[in-house]
Amino acid sequence: MSSAQSPVSLRQQLARRKPIADLQAEAARGVNGEPLRRSLGVWQLTMISVGATLGTGILVVLGTAVPLAGPAVWISFVLAGVAALLSALSYAEMAGAVPTSGSSYSYTYATMGEGIAWVCGWCLVLEYAVSVAAVAVGASEYVDETLRVFGLHLPAAVSAPPGDGGVVNLPAAVLVLLATVILLPGVRESAWVNTLMVIVKIALLVFFVVVAFTAFRAGNFEPLAPMGAAGVTAAASRLFFSYIGFDAASTAGEEAKDPRRDLPRAIIGSIALITALYILVAVAAIGARTWTSFSDSEASLVRIVVEVTGQPWVALVFSIGAVIAIASVVLTVLYGQTRILLTMARDGLVPKVFGRVSHRTGTPVANTLIVSLVVTVVAALVPLGELADATSIGTLVAFALVNVSVIVLRRTQPGLERSYRVPLFPVVPVLGTLCCVLLAVFLGAGTWIAFGVWMVVGAALYLLWGRRHSTLR
Ligand code: ALA
Repeated sequence: MSSAQSPVSLRQQLARRKPIADLQAEAARGVNGEPLRRSLGVWQLTMISVGATLGTGILVVLGTAVPLAGPAVWISFVLAGVAALLSALSYAEMAGAVPTSGSSYSYTYATMGEGIAWVCGWCLVLEYAVSVAAVAVGASEYVDETLRVFGLHLPAAVSAPPGDGGVVNLPAAVLVLLATVILLPGVRESAWVNTLMVIVKIALLVFFVVVAFTAFRAGNFEPLAPMGAAGVTAAASRLFFSYIGFDAASTAGEEAKDPRRDLPRAIIGSIALITALYILVAVAAIGARTWTSFSDSEASLVRIVVEVTGQPWVALVFSIGAVIAIASVVLTVLYGQTRILLTMARDGLVPKVFGRVSHRTGTPVANTLIVSLVVTVVAALVPLGELADATSIGTLVAFALVNVSVIVLRRTQPGLERSYRVPLFPVVPVLGTLCCVLLAVFLGAGTWIAFGVWMVVGAALYLLWGRRHSTLR
């Protein structure tokens, strides 16, 4: 550590790894001597992961993926689910070995150094902050469906962003602000509200499956893949968005009562539940409605339940349930983003204000307010499609890095205490990495260009700020 006193070259600094013992000591100490409160058990952690995952993907993006894949959209869900499951197993191992709030950012800092950690943290902003905005945008579809039951309609000027023919997406902005109000009092209170919302959304999807199966027609699955394998894989890339969020429990590493035992269980339990639900919903939706009818509505699930039951009140109940479902994603993903930034602030890579924890609530209040404000503006002004694809590419890169971290850590620290180990090592993390890379390749050229610009901005921020303030330096 003598180099801490002498000038450090950029290459040396990018390669510097953070010792796992330091990560753990810092988590115990907190930032301003105020550690986060440990109040979450395995049930709440699982609910955080399910809360962060089930939402706009299944309720809105499904409708836009059917025209790509045709009836084979359920196969697209399986493909995206396999990529998510392989990465979930890697997350489980890393969360059990390095239980801090930084999630994959901290895992890469410990295994591959500051440069890759910064890349990962910057991608996590896409996965979390940008996805919250995307998710909130999806909710406005269902707010509109709710009003439609009363013969009302939100004017485009206040329900769509400029790129989509409006001026501002007000429902999306309000949803983010409401989630902020729930987050501020403390994680125990937020987790409690989230659990209630998750129960509502699971019930909603089970209700959908039961109703849709009463109108099931096997003929709707012919031809299975009218656009061929290319359509199925393109839809899988798009639907990957619906699996994003299972890793949210890993951002609660410093607020979990027994993170080593509970984080792996919460991550694996939530991904298994979510995958099963998605495949059931996709099969039920196609069974109840011909795939060619999907292009006319993004809020397609509510249309299906109304078509099948013929009851307008069902539309009301379903749409309100959908808004609650999406609200819980906004809540938990916003939570995750604040905790990742908190860890990065502790490392000096983002300003210290993100690391301040309130003595009264035990939560990072200033951090939460800043993140919420930025997300509110993005949700109000940017269209869903662009946001969703940007989210997916950032997440796929972060997931790929976690898979690689598992391999690196097994080699560099074989004796480290791990409460969970991926099965069939190294096959699972290698396949997990390949799946993430493949899905990312199938995202459009426009998304890659946007991602490139994002990474250049990130590199500039690191060179101008992070590099100089890094605590490891
Ligand atoms: N997986 C989250 C959703 O579908 C982002 O809403």
